[in-house]
Amino acid sequence: MAVGDVSIRGVSFKYPDGQPALTEVSLEITGGESVGVLGCNGAGKSTLLQHFNGLLRGTGEVFIGELLLGEKTLNDIRARVGLVFQDPDDQLFMPTVFDDVAYGPRCRGLPETEVRRRVERSLGVVGLAAEASRPPHHLSLGQKKRAALATVLSLDCQVLVLDEPTSGLDPRGRRELLAYLRKVPCTRIVATHDLEFALELCTRAVVLDGGRVAAEGPIRELLADDTLMERTGLEVPHSLRFHAMGHPHHH
Ligand SMILES: Nc1ncnc2c1ncn2[C@@H]1O[C@H](COP(=O)(O)OP(=O)(O)OP(=O)(O)O)[C@@H](O)[C@H]1O
Ligand SMILES: [Mg+2]
Repeated sequence: MAVGDVSIRGVSFKYPDGQPALTEVSLEITGGESVGVLGCNGAGKSTLLQHFNGLLRGTGEVFIGELLLGEKTLNDIRARVGLVFQDPDDQLFMPTVFDDVAYGPRCRGLPETEVRRRVERSLGVVGLAAEASRPPHHLSLGQKKRAALATVLSLDCQVLVLDEPTSGLDPRGRRELLAYLRKVPCTRIVATHDLEFALELCTRAVVLDGGRVAAEGPIRELLADDTLMERTGLEVPHSLRFHAMGHPHHH
């Protein structure tokens, strides 16, 4: 098994109030792949994503490469898997943007010159170099989303898990994020309602519905499936609908 492979086997999870949020979810992801996690509000996307680094632990097995997630492997797994939350306020807690992005590398005991190098690179990627010394809570929503992403990019993870990465981003920010994610070599798992974004980034997708896997396969086939989209509260994205209507659209 390669380092960036991810395998979820029969994972079920209930929140403390008894609400079953995932039921027997299984998913195999090959290292370096981009996989979309799709589904309507409440389908279980964020809950599933938080299983990839052991933030939530249900029944069933989670493998990152050869490591089975458990008490003993938790730290190693967190070093491999970077999770960006849906809500950036869950990610940012230091007095400055710089410190937030430096936090992970510093915890790993990296020398300060390397920390600085990684922070500058990560803030550059998300276009926030000029905001490094500002308090994160003074940033706009889209800026916070960018800063939250940078806190994970600075970790150089093998697996990137992103929850709604385009929400709140302006068109240029969204386009730059797409370009970046298309070229990074790590495994990418992205939950999103931005189906066009998923279509451009991912080769494969899983559709969740009521905490179960409703479908899984090549993203283009899933998103073009009218019945599946209707049944799971999604819709065929415009770029595919246009195609299906018999107006082939060449780029
Ligand atoms: N902290 C919590 N306590 C109790 N139930 C929760 C909690 N968080 C989520 N749930 C429930 O678990 C289910 C799955 O929620 P989840 O946040 O994973 O959905 P989602 O697919 O990410 O939705 P969205 O598209 O709105 O982000 C929902 O029924 C939700 O109400
Ligand atoms: Mg969510």
